Amino acid sequence: MAIPQTLHAEQATRTPANVGAIWTKWLRQEDLSLLTEHPLLVALEDGTASLDVLKRLLAQHSHYSRHFTRYLCALLGQFGDARSIQALLANLREEMGVDDHGHDTHAEMFQRSLRLVGVDPNREPALPATAQLTSAMLAHCKSADPMHGLAAMCLGAEAIVPLIYTPILQSLRHFGFGHEATEFFRLHIEEDEDHALTMLRLMEEFAEDDPARGELGVTIGSEMIRRRVEMLDAVWASTSAPLGAVESRSHNSSDFWRVPSSLTANVPNRLCHPNVMAVSSAADNKFSGERKHRVHIVDLPSHTISMTIGHLEVGEATGAHRHNYETLIYVLQGIGSSVVGDRVVEWKAGDAFYIPPWAVHRHQNSANEECVYIACENAPLLQNLGGIALREELSALHEA
Ligand SMILES: [Fe+2]
Ligand SMILES: [Fe+2]
Repeated sequence: MAIPQTLHAEQATRTPANVGAIWTKWLRQEDLSLLTEHPLLVALEDGTASLDVLKRLLAQHSHYSRHFTRYLCALLGQFGDARSIQALLANLREEMGVDDHGHDTHAEMFQRSLRLVGVDPNREPALPATAQLTSAMLAHCKSADPMHGLAAMCLGAEAIVPLIYTPILQSLRHFGFGHEATEFFRLHIEEDEDHALTMLRLMEEFAEDDPARGELGVTIGSEMIRRRVEMLDAVWASTSAPLGAVESRSHNSSDFWRVPSSLTANVPNRLCHPNVMAVSSAADNKFSGERKHRVHIVDLPSHTISMTIGHLEVGEATGAHRHNYETLIYVLQGIGSSVVGDRVVEWKAGDAFYIPPWAVHRHQNSANEECVYIACENAPLLQNLGGIALREELSALHEA
């Protein structure tokens, strides 16, 4: 694994706009944002992630990265010309510690980090998303068209290493781990390596001969970044369960006998979502786009209630819609009104109001300043009862 200088951590972390021009043709901004704004990576970097979260991520990363030399060998096998093979061999030689620097293999370094941090990947099986990331990487590298493997390895691994390893390094330092435990990550972030650029050059050559292959490379890079994000999502989602109990969060009639006679507090790792409105996450942007007004999602591990912060600009209104969950709204700022069924509720900062299940409603800013409100809903309760939360957009029918 190597770090292209043009995507160095200090430049790239949370500011994918600064990615060197050489990469902008190959890496999609929206994919990089999924990484730079991922709540797990943000929490690792700002020191709010627990040691448990860090260990879970390292265990999953181990299940993926233990196959790194297999990916590389599979890719090498797709090339017939000595020049390309020679170029890619430099990467493999460094992985195996037989380059001029003569250090341990990268696998040995990573194993040392795991031991020092106290992570035993054998006790933490690969999550489905990790297994999918691994098998997709290997499948691309085995593809007869080397563009598949190059794009997957270069765009889906080498080029994004700083975006993932910098938060991990920060978190390791936050918990006081020293030189030995951080060596693997420092090496990959700090060393002036050019493996990714080597792969990029080969991709550029393919794309020059056939632009469609260039497009293919971009698509594969995007796919692999999204698979990586799915692994991060899975790790993050597992963090409200105790270690080793990731699969035990849903219950059915066969385990009714497990109902305990007393309660034990299960305090999740994440108890705080700092600065909710300071950053718009990728999830916020997606949600805001669908709702057609700005929304910040409060990301906390609650199972029964949700919270969002809604914004309505001057003159803005939400679309008419209805849902089978309840909503409580508290107005932080502004003046507006809401149509709720056949009623109209006028509201202002300091007021709270209620939307009952399945009542058609829409909210409107009716003054000259932005409205900001907190909305709490029991959608997670219905979703966790078996995916039975419903929401219907009715704008076209009711906006007249
Ligand atoms: Fe490496
Ligand atoms: Fe609503």
